[in-house]
Amino acid sequence: MAEYTPTDAIALLKADHRKVEELFEEFDKARRSDRKAAIVQQICTELKIHTMIEEEIFYPAIKPKTDAAMVEEGVIEHDGAKVLINDLAQADPKAEYYDAKVKVLSEEIKHHVAEEERWITGMFAQARRTDLDMEALGARMAARKEELVAQSQKKGGLPVAKLEGLELIEA
Ligand SMILES: [Fe+2]
Ligand SMILES: [Fe+2]
Repeated sequence: MAEYTPTDAIALLKADHRKVEELFEEFDKARRSDRKAAIVQQICTELKIHTMIEEEIFYPAIKPKTDAAMVEEGVIEHDGAKVLINDLAQADPKAEYYDAKVKVLSEEIKHHVAEEERWITGMFAQARRTDLDMEALGARMAARKEELVAQSQKKGGLPVAKLEGLELIEA
């Protein structure tokens, strides 16, 4: 069955958020390591695509018209999550810290989603009050998402998530 893809930018992003929340709930219920690994791969793919469409299209569109500092915090929160995403995308589900990494990622995402969706002062609420055409923005995001989903299904899948503002310093 084809997934419902909203054309309103904010509806599209919120639908992604709900999908990832469901996947984290499924992970909590999973016991077998192959099942855990499969769910984590799905979470990583969803989050890579979601952060890419936000950073390539949504954030740059809203940044000049909303609280730009909040948008920048969003990018850095994405970077923090991407460190865990890139680690988990290649991690062994039986390895030490695996469940801890998934748990911390879910907490980071929960915090970030709350900032985006917060009533009145959140990023999406601010975006809604601008004169931006959310349908047009959503259509661009849906098209980009389709490309990235296709790429994720090809051999090799999606590349490692690229950090936008953080620099990783190796000890
Ligand atoms: Fe988001
Ligand atoms: Fe985000």
